[in-house]
Amino acid sequence: MSKTFHITTFGCQMNEHDSEIMAGMLTEKGFRQVGERSEADVAIINTCSIRENADKRFFGTLGQLKRRKKDNPEFLVCVCGCMMQQQHVIDTIKAKYPWVDVIFGTHNIHQLPELIDNVLAEKKRQIEIWPDGGEIVEGLPSKRLFDCKALVNIMFGCNNFCTYCIVPYTRGRERSRRPEEIVKEVRNLVGDGVKEIMLLGQNVNSYKGDGDTDFADLIYMLNEIDGLERIRFMTSHPKDLSDKLIKAYTECDKLCRNIHLPVQSGSSRILKRMNRKYTKEQYLELIGKLRKAAGDMTISTDIIVGFPGETEEDFEETLDLVRKVRYDSAFTFLYSVRKGTPAEKFTDQIPEEIKHQRFNRLVDLINTISAEKNAEYVGRVEEVLVEGPSKTGSRTFAGRTDGFKLVNFKGSEDMVGQLVKVEITEGKTFSLEGRVIGEAEQR
Ligand code: SAH
Ligand code: SF4
Ligand code: F3S
Repeated sequence: MSKTFHITTFGCQMNEHDSEIMAGMLTEKGFRQVGERSEADVAIINTCSIRENADKRFFGTLGQLKRRKKDNPEFLVCVCGCMMQQQHVIDTIKAKYPWVDVIFGTHNIHQLPELIDNVLAEKKRQIEIWPDGGEIVEGLPSKRLFDCKALVNIMFGCNNFCTYCIVPYTRGRERSRRPEEIVKEVRNLVGDGVKEIMLLGQNVNSYKGDGDTDFADLIYMLNEIDGLERIRFMTSHPKDLSDKLIKAYTECDKLCRNIHLPVQSGSSRILKRMNRKYTKEQYLELIGKLRKAAGDMTISTDIIVGFPGETEEDFEETLDLVRKVRYDSAFTFLYSVRKGTPAEKFTDQIPEEIKHQRFNRLVDLINTISAEKNAEYVGRVEEVLVEGPSKTGSRTFAGRTDGFKLVNFKGSEDMVGQLVKVEITEGKTFSLEGRVIGEAEQR
């Protein structure tokens, strides 16, 4: 009987993609992936450390597994991801959860099969953490979540050291893959039925391939691949958004008219304290350039509320910026202190109550604008890549427009993985409703 495994993934697309690679490696090893953790012989928990509640969820999950491990010592528990790159977390696991079998980090996921072999052979816990990323390991298998779309990592790590953020400490310094490796991977994916790729990096547009291939050059190279329909990327930093990349939106037909451009705050004073390296005005200028190049482009962002020292005036600058940009959607976060980051030392932390009040005001504004923007789509015809059955009901399917809007519509199983034309009949706050009117043309 082959062993079964289950992976629980917390965090961003980086972690999602790492989990796809781990699933690929274990499947190649002859293990079988199962949908329920309770049915698995091996449980893997891929952790995130971006905010405090991410840490808490991990320890909550470990608590649930303790009993199972006690009843069945053969059951293997493996933990990995961003939390494991922090010494204080490793110390806590050693002290409070000594029954965890395998601990590894973000830089050595390729070692998972070997670590599992070792724990089975030696019957003792394996801990293998690399402090920083070595040579990029190419050619690892991957088991995708969707048949029609794929995550493609193009660079790893982050050099920006925003003062609130843990990522530079958990993912190490920036390293880019060679462009020919990326093109080869995307060609293989297209051969396997993939229509849409999402290029991944903590800071994708600071991509620096061989010689002088920059991020925009890479987009042009990928735009040439026959059979590929859509190119997206996540996440770009405003400081690295070049005119060359903005021009690519007008020249590369496969590049989706959508950008996620985290602003974090609308106050130039707070942005400076966050070490974001741009001002409110410079950010708004970028938005102006993007809208000029591609007027129909959808724009989303990330905003942190209650960063240390944020005054009511600073917060109102954020509201003002949101009103000016009119985002299609935005992820909002309460500032969370992270151990070892510069902002941990800032003495002017904001009381929880004020943080929550500001958070609610901001979310109200964002949702109002999202609903207004979505209402404008009624009557338009959009190309939608059908992802699968929708969560909302029977015979309802869901997919994304070029601008990354979620659309629900009545459909059939044979549409899954296809690009269809959908007429939008209703705009809601977080999604659109529509009806299929035909197939879309190939790009
Ligand atoms: N590399 C990406 C995003 C990384 S994390 C970028 O630079 O845009 C995703 C989002 O989490 C960030 O954009 C930020 O808004 C939020 N975030 C990061 N650290 C945080 C913290 N300590 N507290 C609250 N939100 C945080
Ligand atoms: Fe974190 Fe800033 Fe790097 Fe994004 S750019 S991962 S927010 S340090
Ligand atoms: Fe979390 Fe690590 Fe991503 S901290 S957000 S999983 S890079």
